[in-house]
Amino acid sequence: MSQLSDTLVAWQRTHGRHALPWQNTRDPYRVWLSEIMLQQTQVAAVLRYYARFLERFPDVATLAAAPLDDVLALWSGLGYYSRARNLHRCAQTVVAQYGGVFPPSAAVLAELPGIGRSTAAAIAAFCHDERVSILDGNVKRVLTRALAFDGDLAQPAQERLLWQQATALLPADRTDMPAYTQGLMDLGATVCGLRRPDCLICPLAGLCAARASGRTGDYPVRTRKLKRSRRENWCLWLRTPDAVWLQQRPDSGLWAGLWALPMFDDLALLKARTATVAGAVHVAELPGFVHVLTHLDWALHPCRLDVNMADAAPLVAALGAGRWWPLDQLDTIGLPAPFSRLLLSR
Ligand code: ADE
Repeated sequence: MSQLSDTLVAWQRTHGRHALPWQNTRDPYRVWLSEIMLQQTQVAAVLRYYARFLERFPDVATLAAAPLDDVLALWSGLGYYSRARNLHRCAQTVVAQYGGVFPPSAAVLAELPGIGRSTAAAIAAFCHDERVSILDGNVKRVLTRALAFDGDLAQPAQERLLWQQATALLPADRTDMPAYTQGLMDLGATVCGLRRPDCLICPLAGLCAARASGRTGDYPVRTRKLKRSRRENWCLWLRTPDAVWLQQRPDSGLWAGLWALPMFDDLALLKARTATVAGAVHVAELPGFVHVLTHLDWALHPCRLDVNMADAAPLVAALGAGRWWPLDQLDTIGLPAPFSRLLLSR
């Protein structure tokens, strides 16, 4: 068994990634931030946010003391905003309960908001050499292939079994934990890909059970597939020459806490509402687009309405909570990525 960890550690040291901005540090704050950003987001996208975020929030105390709106604004575009809300809550918990120092053990870290078992293991392994295994989507693919693990990961008992096997594979020497953990990540991201694993350059090819039987495509086994749904909304882009009217999304659900255009379930409803604006009102129906999320294809149809604030007063009163935002302040608030593209592009 030690063959797998020895091979992976040696490969990581020579062929793995070493220059990512969250590497070469043992600072749990920096590692934690990177791991949260890297959940469901590619390295290339995170690179653009990570440095900017650290510049504004260099340590956990600064982050904990900041208004949530500032955190969401800097997260804007990374998606999955519950991560940003949990990040903020986690920072506050670390300050309030742990004196501003992240607890070292993975088991304790996993109790904090937004930190699951795999993320906790990554932080503890990178910062404290703790012998605990990560097991995110990429690592599940690497290990189920290496072991030809036939269990159905849609079943919690099988997932627990894989965690046990992952734990059994850990290097004996705890000082190898950072390289081993990074090696699993690097292999999953750069070699053992979902569709075309590059077995010819894989350090584990010689001991990979799936490779031996030519069945890399059969792993991981997961019977329950994601069910995609579709949603459609008409968005009112109400604007003056220098402002746009936005509503803050509710505290839960998609885009929680971000500023968005008011949304309607159909075009007739939108038009009925905007009919309250004085004068000849022309709603411009712009080309729609589909915002693609993990579980959802969200078709959005922007409808632009140019007004002056006085004429629009009855309309915005009827729309409920919301406010005019000056265009030159839009880059300081949290905007969902598709609206940010729409509003900032002209
Ligand atoms: N994905 C998750 N964690 C990562 C890390 N530390 N480096 C590269 N990719 C990752």
